[in-house]
Amino acid sequence: MKVVIIGSGYVGLPTSVGLAELGHHVVCVDRESSKIEILRQHISTIYEDGLEELLRKNVDAGRLSFSTTHEVISEAEVVIIAVGTPPHPVTKEADLKYIHAAAIEIARELKGYTVVAIKSTVPVGTGDSVEYLMKKTNPSAQFHLISLPEFLREGFAVHDFFNPDRIVIGANEEEPKKIINTLYAKLLSRTKVLQVNRRSAELIKYASNAFLAVKIHFINEIADLCAKVSGDINDVATGMGLDSRIGQKFLNPGPGYGGSCFPKDTEALAYMARHNQVELSLVESTIAGNSKRKRKIAAQLISSVSDVPDPKIGVLGLAFKNGTDDCRSSPAVEIIEELLNNDIEIIAYDPLAMSNARCIFGERIKYADGMHDVAEGADLLVVLTECNEFKFLDFEKIIPIIRRQQIVDCRNIVDMDKAAKLGFKTMKIGLNF
Ligand code: UGA
Repeated sequence: MKVVIIGSGYVGLPTSVGLAELGHHVVCVDRESSKIEILRQHISTIYEDGLEELLRKNVDAGRLSFSTTHEVISEAEVVIIAVGTPPHPVTKEADLKYIHAAAIEIARELKGYTVVAIKSTVPVGTGDSVEYLMKKTNPSAQFHLISLPEFLREGFAVHDFFNPDRIVIGANEEEPKKIINTLYAKLLSRTKVLQVNRRSAELIKYASNAFLAVKIHFINEIADLCAKVSGDINDVATGMGLDSRIGQKFLNPGPGYGGSCFPKDTEALAYMARHNQVELSLVESTIAGNSKRKRKIAAQLISSVSDVPDPKIGVLGLAFKNGTDDCRSSPAVEIIEELLNNDIEIIAYDPLAMSNARCIFGERIKYADGMHDVAEGADLLVVLTECNEFKFLDFEKIIPIIRRQQIVDCRNIVDMDKAAKLGFKTMKIGLNF
């Protein structure tokens, strides 16, 4: 099939590459010519494990290309909108300006029947308003506008594309459902397809992300209680997760959820509920609790070095989670900002996110060349992101360079028993921190 994808970000690019790998002819369109230039050199503009190899393979096979112009749309059987929906700075409502701009461009270019799918996360009812806008722009256009929400995780986008838990098709008509089933035909044997109306599909996306955010916030609050009553959150989470109705996933305590999705989508869902006079008290308290959490952790870190003159903290992890270079709404970034406000010197390391972190902090923090180097002259080490590499910290390498042997693990991934045996003061979230 001929497919055009509008947007080359964390959703648009992996989807383009994935659909090309399934055998479709895909053109990925982005207005930013600098991005398209890089992509045309077979270089991925985002970090995703395995993405660049597949990108190169499919460009070489002639199935994938990149463009800054929308003219290619006239050839497409399916057009997928995967542009950003950033939060409004005050109301936190999802801002649809990029969706609307894309919809107008698409409507102008349509020739012959086309399925237009919104993959971006959009408030319930957006499909209706976009359909209206497209019909107004081009009254003779023949298309069906559907919702095709995306559930890829950053850092695992390639894996998730080929192994989705489900494909949700939100369409009010039968024809586009058939076409989307054909688009994903090669994946249908390993996933479930749920066909629902457009508004339900839009809501499934928000409800799923909000539910996961609530789950994380819940385990974070239980972690706080564990630390007060001498429980161990890891054991508590394991015990809870063994109940198949609860499940092990998303019960890892930490410094709060971050990234470009959960913070934005929970806020947008809460806005949508208020707008419809519906109370979503769990989501509202999750948003408030998650934001308080980062300040609380920063305050605990500050107090751990409050007796030291010119304190210095070595930070392990800057991205919002493992496997990505993305620092958007990263708890690590927010915590570091609080530490800097309290005149604490920071030296940090992240296996993937150093260059994005430099754009945020510039010269305000120091950057280490490797994970052990953050210990140089530090009064405390803190793990803020669950990067796999940190599981292999060699404490014997750290001892000669660290000023004070203390380590806080906000993700509970480090072998603290080993550290404690070597004389470190160890603090684990949901145990003694
Ligand atoms: C999330 C959803 O998981 C995807 O299904 C969805 O498609 C995506 O948002 C989106 O809307 O585009 P993502 O933001 O990539 O994916 O990251 P997650 O793996 O869900 O993690 C989000 C945050 O929660 C991270 O800061 C992570 O460290 C934190 N987290 C996650 C925890 O603190 N504990 C956990 O147990 C799990």
